[in-house]
Amino acid sequence: MSNSRTPFVDRFGPDAADIEIDSDAPAIFGQLAARGSVRKFRSDPVPYPTLRRLCALALSAPTKSDLQQRDIIIVDEPSLKSEITAPLTEGPLGQKWLADVPTLLVFCGNNRRQRRIHTLRAVPFANDHLDAFFNAAVDAGVALSAFVIAAEAEGLGVCPVSAVRNHADTLSRLLKLPDHVFPVAGLAVGYPAETPRISMRLPLSMTVHRNAFEEDGLDTAIEAYDRRREAAQPYAAQRYVREFGRAESYGWSEDKARQYAHPERADFGAYVKRIGFKLD
Ligand SMILES: Cc1cc2nc3c(=O)[nH]c(=O)nc-3n(C[C@H](O)[C@H](O)[C@H](O)COP(=O)(O)O)c2cc1C
Repeated sequence: MSNSRTPFVDRFGPDAADIEIDSDAPAIFGQLAARGSVRKFRSDPVPYPTLRRLCALALSAPTKSDLQQRDIIIVDEPSLKSEITAPLTEGPLGQKWLADVPTLLVFCGNNRRQRRIHTLRAVPFANDHLDAFFNAAVDAGVALSAFVIAAEAEGLGVCPVSAVRNHADTLSRLLKLPDHVFPVAGLAVGYPAETPRISMRLPLSMTVHRNAFEEDGLDTAIEAYDRRREAAQPYAAQRYVREFGRAESYGWSEDKARQYAHPERADFGAYVKRIGFKLD
């Protein structure tokens, strides 16, 4: 059994050097190890039967208590797709690449069917609290992840898009989402026109725990990760330079701190309550 060089060291740093993928390991291992989001696509759309097959694979993923509280909306009608994506491309922080996405999917949490079942069976619904929202959101996330893996195995490029929730009310109206059905994330799907790079991650020593959570050495690990990333994959631009100045050394932690120095989708909780959820 021979081993092929894996991208784990590039991804996670030196503490992943001992992890190997044997040459006879399942092909999916190599695919996942080297995967990356794609934001540049050929213009031809992905055929509907292909998307439907991928949805079937995605919805074969586990679902909490077999409740099946997630749905996928395929948006391949060009004018509807533009209505959704155009506002997300505008302004200095706009995501211009979304203008050329061939197909957009929206993964939704759906707690509505469960509530309907209670009406149909004349049995009271006793779970009108945070878990109703949370379980549906997780179910949608699990399906999204399975779709990503299946689509990348098919040779497609994908990138999740939480920005579709920037205007949740508008998106709900455009997609005709009823109460208790909500967007979790979009997913841009198309034939890739770029080879994605391997995006670097925090070391496994910080993100994989054995038997108990621990964060000894966190600050040092973040500092090392910042420097490793800055050397190999420096950020093309710094965020909010006018507010925070131009940092001489700009790593992941500086970028994420600056990102979350401004509210993102602070109105989402109000939207979720408006469509009928209780979050206590
Ligand atoms: C739930 C979710 C939402 C995301 N939303 C966006 C988005 O709005 N725009 C974007 O360009 N990338 C988005 N991404 C992609 C992440 O930026 C990307 O996964 C991360 O930078 C790591 O890169 P990689 O996927 O190439 O490994 C999202 C990813 C997830 C999981």
